Amino acid sequence: MCGIVGYVGSEKCQDIVIGALERLEYRGYDSAGIASIDEEGLHLCRAVGKLAELKAKIKKMPIPGNTGIGHIRWATHGGVTEHNAHPHYATDEVVIVHNGIIENYAELKADLIEKGVVFTSDTDSEVLAHLFSHFIKKGLPPVAILQEVISKIEGAYAFTALSKSYPDTLMAARNASPLAIGLSDNMAVVASDALAIAHLTRHVIYLKDNDYAIITSKGCTIYDSNNEIANREIVQVKASPVLLDKAGFRHYMEKEIHEQPDAISHTISAMSDTTGRLTAGLDISSLSSIKGIVLLAAGTSFYAAQIGRYWIEKLAGIPVVCEIASEYHYRQPVASCQSTAIVISQSGESIDSLLAMRYAKKLGLDTFGIVNVVDSTIAREADKILPTRAGPEIGVASTKAFTAQLVVLFCLAIALGKQNGHISASRADELHHQLLKMPGAVGKSMELFDSIRPIAHKLKNASSCLFLGRDILYPLACEGALKLKELSYIHAEGFASGEMKHGPIALLQDGLPIVSFVSDDDMARKAVSNLKEADARGGHIIVVGTQSALNLLDFAAEKITIPECEPLLTPIVGAIPAQILAYLTAFEKGTDIDQPRNLAKSVTVE
Ligand code: AGP
Repeated sequence: MCGIVGYVGSEKCQDIVIGALERLEYRGYDSAGIASIDEEGLHLCRAVGKLAELKAKIKKMPIPGNTGIGHIRWATHGGVTEHNAHPHYATDEVVIVHNGIIENYAELKADLIEKGVVFTSDTDSEVLAHLFSHFIKKGLPPVAILQEVISKIEGAYAFTALSKSYPDTLMAARNASPLAIGLSDNMAVVASDALAIAHLTRHVIYLKDNDYAIITSKGCTIYDSNNEIANREIVQVKASPVLLDKAGFRHYMEKEIHEQPDAISHTISAMSDTTGRLTAGLDISSLSSIKGIVLLAAGTSFYAAQIGRYWIEKLAGIPVVCEIASEYHYRQPVASCQSTAIVISQSGESIDSLLAMRYAKKLGLDTFGIVNVVDSTIAREADKILPTRAGPEIGVASTKAFTAQLVVLFCLAIALGKQNGHISASRADELHHQLLKMPGAVGKSMELFDSIRPIAHKLKNASSCLFLGRDILYPLACEGALKLKELSYIHAEGFASGEMKHGPIALLQDGLPIVSFVSDDDMARKAVSNLKEADARGGHIIVVGTQSALNLLDFAAEKITIPECEPLLTPIVGAIPAQILAYLTAFEKGTDIDQPRNLAKSVTVE
């Protein structure tokens, strides 16, 4: 969603705040703003559009001062206008930046308007600025001001406020939306994501829900929900800032597609013990305590979950249900036959997945997190972490995190099946051996850019595209559809191949592109007959599979051949052409590949 930044220290704040916002652009990018304070008072500059628009404005009107805040927006309440861009202000007394949703903003706004406050935006966030101003005018000290403001608001928030009355102090708080404080000599920074400030300091404190903090260049004092001083641990940020650049690729997404061999091998290592034995990072008692699983996720991570379900059922004989996170935590699911909730989240901050995990915890389930950001909220709150080692994923469309999630789920299925005897030790070793071939097979799949380019060139003119798959390839079809629609804005939908004849086949008309994933297993012949039904009705069939699978499909208009692999692992290798097809189609259409319209990398609002 949005990204917020604050700086207080011995340096001029403008370039530091802008530099951190550049590293938060993946969180949202429809408008941006910066504000600071110096002896002359408050200074504010905001711009609609990408961060570049704001940088152009401050080139003409620099922002002075050593204490400043900044914001990069993904609109929730209020359209994309300069007035709705953050920082928001209350007279010339206070400025604030906010990520999240103040759920009771309407009644607070009405109350403030009754008191004569004049609002200048349509946002929920502006309420914060006026609440701060109200309590500052009462002459309260910063801690009391924060306590009063927090006591009034409900919902998800991470905010930082700066007031003329306390020019060298940042007032910050979080609940459900992430916030990290970076500390170094004579300076402190606060940001939505520690990676945004890793180039400034590696010493970081992650605020917990309902924490609030008073931050100065000398350090910070953190309070918990009981208004007592909280001693939060200072952690060392691990990822190196150098990972946050494109390394010569045209887009982060292109780079991250190419990083998948490394991401997969690093993740396999994380799933193995020092002797190389596959353990999924769990000890025997943890593995044997898993009797029934609910997989909770959103978006691409949900499709990884659905593939994981097939593997765990097949290899471990353990019952698994997959739940869309945003649906799960508002239902009354019957969890009696489950022992474990596994949340899958690249960012570890998706509010839907976080709330679903908390709900599962309330239902008495053990909670495991398959996350890519080890310092994330889900990672910190889960009972156990099964880390994907994909490295920072900046492109909004998830690629390397997805295949790394699949690796973790496959390793978990093998470890569970070996532990409960559903598969023999030799079968487990054979599957592990096949998994170790994935970095090579995925690396070889990078050669597909050339053969897919002409297919993308044609696909860019389509108004709609269907994706088909059976069994473990059905969720991959859904993921392929999600990649195409979120990157190229072409309508796309994934179906179970066998479902076509139950309705969707009515969509078929001459030339409608149909991408079908086929693996050389006992489902291949079924998939072939489904495809023949589509072919007979004019569909433009594009098949993705190994050569042995494609030999069954001489009628296909286009063939994308993936390297031979264990059929169970086809979703990992098959994901690569799906990503490349979406990437190249979007490239042909000229859409914003790393920051597609209306999207954000981490959805931290409901
Ligand atoms: C994936 O390409 C999308 N950007 C989106 O569906 C994403 O997978 C979803 O928002 C879940 O994010 P998470 O894995 O960080 O929880």
